[in-house]
Amino acid sequence: MISKKMTEALNKQINAELFSAYLYQAMSAWLSWKNLNGFAKWFTLQAQEEQSHAMKIYEYVNDQGERVILEAIDAPQTDYASVKAVAEEQLKHEKKVTALINNLVKLAREEKDVATEIFLQWFISEQVEEERNAEEIINKLEMIGDKGPGMYMLDKEMGARE
Ligand code: FEO
Repeated sequence: MISKKMTEALNKQINAELFSAYLYQAMSAWLSWKNLNGFAKWFTLQAQEEQSHAMKIYEYVNDQGERVILEAIDAPQTDYASVKAVAEEQLKHEKKVTALINNLVKLAREEKDVATEIFLQWFISEQVEEERNAEEIINKLEMIGDKGPGMYMLDKEMGARE
């Protein structure tokens, strides 16, 4: 049993995770258009991971006997100045998601909702990894300068993600 306020907040987070999936799929589409198929694959897998984050919360709300309500997903950004701009946007977005998760934990604590607080622990750890991944991509792009043979190799490396 979770409160109406907590249910609403979790439903909002489902929407935020689905927006993340939509944003990363749009990034993947832009990267495919730029013939960076390794990067495009990486971002498609990332979009799928975000969809699975949404479903984790969806199932939790169901398990708590509350109602999942899906709302409209905002349109994502479709154009980028460079691959580095894509990676920077990813990091900016993940920092926003981290703040949203932290706010959910804060709400769970205020409500003395231990089950939801424990449920959210997985997301806290996941956000550390998500931010680190985005930072690593930016660092590599800074090393190679966003084009040339280095970019060819990095695209191959990104495409190796399973
Ligand atoms: Fe579901 Fe990338 O945060």
